[in-house]
Amino acid sequence: MEKRIIDVNASDEDVFEKNIRPESLDEYVGQNEIKENLRVFIKAALMRNEPLDHVLLYGPPGLGKTTLAHIIANELGSTLRTASGPSIEKTGDLAAILSNLEPGDVLFIDEIHRMPSFIEEILYPAMEDFELDLIIGGDGKSKSIKINLPPFTLVGATTRAGDLSSPLRDRFGIISKLDYYTFDELKDIVIRSGRVFDIKVEDDAAMELAKRSRKTPRVANRLFRRVRDFAIVEGNGIIDLDITNRALKRLHVDDSGLDNIDREYLTSLIEKFNGGPVGVETIATSIGEEVTTIEDVVEPYLLQEGFIKRTRSGRVATEKAFNIIGYKYNQGLFKEE
Ligand SMILES: Nc1ncnc2c1ncn2[C@@H]1O[C@H](COP(=O)(O)OP(=O)(O)OP(=O)(O)O)[C@@H](O)[C@H]1O
Ligand SMILES: [Mg+2]
Repeated sequence: MEKRIIDVNASDEDVFEKNIRPESLDEYVGQNEIKENLRVFIKAALMRNEPLDHVLLYGPPGLGKTTLAHIIANELGSTLRTASGPSIEKTGDLAAILSNLEPGDVLFIDEIHRMPSFIEEILYPAMEDFELDLIIGGDGKSKSIKINLPPFTLVGATTRAGDLSSPLRDRFGIISKLDYYTFDELKDIVIRSGRVFDIKVEDDAAMELAKRSRKTPRVANRLFRRVRDFAIVEGNGIIDLDITNRALKRLHVDDSGLDNIDREYLTSLIEKFNGGPVGVETIATSIGEEVTTIEDVVEPYLLQEGFIKRTRSGRVATEKAFNIIGYKYNQGLFKEE
């Protein structure tokens, strides 16, 4: 897909990300329930001198799963080892990662739903009993061996909890769903980013950025970064409302935070399919995007904001969608469930 300024996916921003990432639960804005629970579980694990239970973090991209995994390791005073589901291709890859763990390590597996199921099975005894069951040899002479692993904590992250097999899901003691952020929380994140990068962000400017960030910290930080450029080059070096509005206009980010792909999606749904219901594959084809991009990146926010509904017979545009695309809502156009 074309590069979008409000892309919720991570990209080439590693250095920026590293600097901006909160490192402790106290610095992590929002997600209060998850934070307070984790605080208790981490403290209890430390008091008992046991590893923290395995943690599964799920929710749409850019809401802070990776950040939270780092924070969990920090708060435990342990080392974070990272791996990602798609990069674990052979059972040996996972066996190598597991057998290199040190006692108390936090193993972070990102996109854990993309790990093949035959590899997943290695994780079951590892998570449950800290044991690695390996089959070695072949040609009828294979034998199975057991290796003891040090106690560790697995933190899994996924945008699709539904794609996880239930035996795997059941082995996580702590399962947390990250939610979209409130405007006030995003405002705090923007103001914090201003502090980190030593640029003044005025209150109303921070709120404006918050409102246009798809309720997603990654988007808030990305917009912050671009507006900072405008403030330095075309403004007076502070982020005020005027430079913010000018910058956002130049970046084609509208009042509701929708961008071209969201609009294309909604326009297609309304103009080509009379507002639906229509299957997600059909919409994806009509705008030339991958189904997974549509499902994981575009739709969660459109659903959450009430622009579309998911029905048994397909996606349906709501009145809000018709209005924002500039059509009069006509209920007769489609049958809603
Ligand atoms: N609660 C928070 N407080 C402050 N900043 C946050 C918070 N959550 C996320 N961020 C910032 O938002 C950005 C994206 O967060 P992160 O990479 O953790 O998201 P993610 O959920 O792992 O996304 P993905 O699903 O794409 O892997 C990071 O730059 C991070 O600093
Ligand atoms: Mg991540």
